[in-house]
Parts: sequence; C-alpha cells; structure tokens
Amino acid sequence: MKVLKIFLYVLVVLAVAYLAVVIYFYSQDPFVRWDWSKINVNDVCYPKHFLWGTATAAYQVEGGFSNNNWTWWENQKKADGKPTIQNNDKCGRADDHWNLYPLDIKLMKQLGVNAYRFSVAWSKVMPTPDSINHEALKHYQDVCDSLIANGIEPMVTLFHFTYPLWFQQLGGFEKQENIKHFVRFARVVYKALGTRVKFWVTINEPVVFAYSSYFAGEYPPGKTDPQLTARVALNLLLAHQAVYKAIKSMPRGEGKIIGIVKNVTQMDPYRRFNLLDNLIAYFADLNFNQAYLRAFKTGKFHFFLPGMVNMKQDMPELPSTLDFIGLNYYSHNAFKFTGNIEQSLVALPYPGEQMTDMDYTIYPEGLYRAIKRVAKLDKSIIITENGIADSLDNRRYMFIKRSLYALSRAINDGYHVRGYFYWSLLDNFEWNLGYSKRFGLYAVDYKTEKRTLRQGSKAYVETIKLWKNKCVRKN
Ligand code: BGC
Repeated sequence: MKVLKIFLYVLVVLAVAYLAVVIYFYSQDPFVRWDWSKINVNDVCYPKHFLWGTATAAYQVEGGFSNNNWTWWENQKKADGKPTIQNNDKCGRADDHWNLYPLDIKLMKQLGVNAYRFSVAWSKVMPTPDSINHEALKHYQDVCDSLIANGIEPMVTLFHFTYPLWFQQLGGFEKQENIKHFVRFARVVYKALGTRVKFWVTINEPVVFAYSSYFAGEYPPGKTDPQLTARVALNLLLAHQAVYKAIKSMPRGEGKIIGIVKNVTQMDPYRRFNLLDNLIAYFADLNFNQAYLRAFKTGKFHFFLPGMVNMKQDMPELPSTLDFIGLNYYSHNAFKFTGNIEQSLVALPYPGEQMTDMDYTIYPEGLYRAIKRVAKLDKSIIITENGIADSLDNRRYMFIKRSLYALSRAINDGYHVRGYFYWSLLDNFEWNLGYSKRFGLYAVDYKTEKRTLRQGSKAYVETIKLWKNKCVRKN
C-alpha cells in the first residue's frame, strides 16, 4: 500500500513538473493560429507616416564582385566534393543592379513605395585595408540622390553577410581586434552618405551569419565550430555597438536612426505537448532568438548549447545602442525529439502548413508574434525584411495580404511599428542556394536582365494604395 502511495505521489509530482515546464515554454511566446476563413485581409490600417519599402543586399543584386568572401566561397568545394553553392551557381552579374539602379528606382516608384533598404559593399569601397575606392562611394551617393529625388527614403545596411577577402584572411569577426576595420569602413561610408541617409542598419542578422558561417559551415569561411560561433556572435554585437557609437560621434550623427536587424524565427515544438520537443525547441530559441534579445534588453549575453558551448559576457552599454530594432520575419520552425540531440536540433517545417519554396512554411501569424516579442525591447520596430520564395507565384498574393494583415493587427494592438520592407524588390542570389529561389516582386530573367512585375506582387501595390487613399491611422 505504502509503495503504491509513493508511486502515485511521484507520478503526480512528475505530471505537475511536466505541465509546468510545457506551460512555461508556451508562455514565453504563445503559439498563435488564426482562422483565415473568418478574416477580411483588407481590413487593415497603418500609420500616416509609414515607411513602405523593398529591401535588397549588395552581393545579391549588384553584380561585379571580386575579392569578396563570397566570390572566394563560390569557388570552393564542400568536404564531400560538392559545390558550395546549389547548382554550382556563381553570383556573376546578378541583377546588374549596379548599372541598372535607375531602372530599378523607377520600378520602386511603380510599386508606390517610399523607402528602399540596400547594403553598401565593403569589398568594393575598401579593396584593401588601407585604400578607399572613391568611385564606388560616388556610386552609392548617386543611388541615394536618385532615391531621394524620387521621394524614396534610403536605408543603408553596413554589413549584410559579405566583406572583403582581406578581412576574412585577417580572421574576420572571429577576432575582436578586427572590429576596428569594420568601424573604419562604417566611418568612410557615413562620411560619404551621412547627409543623405537617416536610417542605418549596422549588421544584418548576426545570428544567421554566425550560425551559417561557423556552425553549419554553409557560408564562408565554412567552419563548423560551436565555440567560434559563439565568439563571432559576440563580436558582431560588439561591432554593432562600436559602429553605433562611431556614427553618433560624427557630424550630425546624433540625429541618425541606427539599429541592428534581428531575424526572429519562432522555434516551436513539433508536438505541442511533448516535453522533449519543447526542450529542444527551447534550446533552439535560446540561441537563435533569446540570447540576442536579452542582450539588448539587459546587457547580458549568454550563448549556451549544452555540452558544446557556454559563453557569458556582460555588455552594459549594448541596450543604449538601438534607436530601432529591425525585424526580419519569414516563418517558424518545428523541432522533434528523435533520440539523438544533434538530429533533433535540425529545424523542420511546421507540420500541416503550406510550404514556401524554401524549407519552411507560410505562417503570417508569426509576424504578429515576432513583433510582440521584439516589442519587449521598448524600441520602435521596423520590419526590415518579410517575403516569400514562390517561383510559381501561386502563393505570393495570399502571403502578402495575410502578412500585411498581421502587421496591421499588431499596429492596431498598440505595437509601435514604423515601417515594412518587402524582401525583395527583385529575384536575387540566395547565398548558398544560388539563383534557385525567387523572392522578387519583380521576376528577373538573368539572361536579358528584364524585370517583370509578378501577379502576386499586386497585393503589395494594392495595400499601399489602400493606405494612401483611405486607411490611415493618426498615430
Ligand atoms: C537575409 C537575406 C535573404 C533572405 C531570404 C534573410 O535572412 O537577410 O539576405 O535573401 O533572408 O532567405
């Protein structure tokens, strides 16, 4: 009898502990699912002064790169002899945006957008550590002038996954002492564009870069080292902090709006009430989202992968180095415990949802969740990327409508979002996936460089028109 009592007692304690853990994980970022059949996606409203934009990054669209970490990477082979880029694609001429930017600005006008996010190519501006290519700087000045003349607000990203090969050879962001080179580049760019550009992004998605380049080995330099991953992640935050301070100390720097871009991907358990799935999802979230959001909130960075790396660093100044948080949102991931930790940490598409052409699903509710989550930083929010790879163009319209509905709902619920940039203006070079993915509002024929507006992109044009004509909030 006594044994049975003890057994029952242990069972109850375990069940309570189990529930407590699952509820705790769930309460961190509650799962959201809307019944779209009951929602009018045109029931939307946005603030009067809202940035409606499109986004690109230099390496993905400009063409004409050399001496860059990615041009080097394109010519390497993986350990198994396979090409580093899908289909052995090379970036090459890309969209020739370097030369065709006047046309592309016209295309932006046709969409009705009032903002453009692009990155400045470090390897073009500083071909060696000590030289500056003034022609390249002049090019970006011309781009900004042309944008401004067309009523389009420029937003500049300083680091979007690529840098000069010489920087990689020095050890890149693996070494804290190399941050000074990035700060120097930032100063050079700011000197050239500071009078034209109000919105600055220091670094695009530090965790994606650190993870893809140093953990998964899919981006250059192709390493797979958890310790280095943590160090690079930390150094990117330090680099952000240093660049923020450098720009603020330059002429008119105080008035600039400077932020970092964080990609928030929800890490959800594959089976909602499975404790082990929850645990795996929790660790994935900890290292992909929470560590960075917490660092900006509290000044304490903690990168922890059990059995692999445990790195803590106080960064007391970090929380004061954000004028806005840039939020990139694409989808959520699911995690299923398989018995093997490494295997369980491989992200799966969330079950039961429609796929994009990437290995993740369409989940517009996640944009709402992501906004809610980054709002805890108490900074204004700009959606710096959101988009879909859809070569058949049979999901884009719905994706855009639903995502913009989620955005409107968040704004309506009081979250302070200042702008939304669609990824991407054009089809472009999707890093290790080469030219296989089609994210563009405009389809690009890479042989002729002809751009064609996709049918599905009209959802974006329509919503911007709706905002211009009648659906403006005063806040
Ligand atoms: C990156 C872009 C990329 C996009 C689509 C973002 O994480 O910033 O460079 O093309 O996702 O995958």
